Amino acid sequence: MSEHDLFLNFSLVWTLVAIILLSFSWRLACYGNRQRHRQLMIFLTLAAWVFIAMYLWQSRQPRPLLEIKEEYILWLIVHGVIGLIALLGATALVFARLWQEKVPESDLHLNRHHKLYGRIFITLWLFTHIGGMINYGLFI
Ligand code: HEM
Repeated sequence: MSEHDLFLNFSLVWTLVAIILLSFSWRLACYGNRQRHRQLMIFLTLAAWVFIAMYLWQSRQPRPLLEIKEEYILWLIVHGVIGLIALLGATALVFARLWQEKVPESDLHLNRHHKLYGRIFITLWLFTHIGGMINYGLFI
């Protein structure tokens, strides 16, 4: 099995795990379990950056060129852009919360509207992972 195939299988497993953990973390926040929600979101955000780094690394490895039909290009762009918005948004939310813990008197916009932004970013994030599973079905 090539590095590329290994990465694809790993991606599928990670997607399933991330969907479960993201949904669980959302429920934790709804039930007011702040500490667990916090730990899980920090872990998921870090893991998502590691995943991107692994993706970039494996895409530099030599492999046969993948033929992508023209009609899928727009979908792939939407998938990638929404994924990046979700990840950058989640990272900003994590930093805002950590900053507030360090500087309790800080009154950041992102913290005041954490629920609203959290709901938007977590939905986009879940959408990206579901899209990743569709991509697996489309291209593999
Ligand atoms: C250090 C990281 C984080 C901490 C300490 C934290 C903490 C909290 C807390 C205390 C709440 C309850 C409502 C509030 O205080 O505004 C909450 C709600 C929420 N958080 Fe976070 N959060 C973190 C990161 C994130 C991230 C990265 C996301 C999404 C990408 C997120 C998504 C949500 C959502 C969707 C809710 C609302 C749940 C509902 O629908 O009622 N959180 N969070």
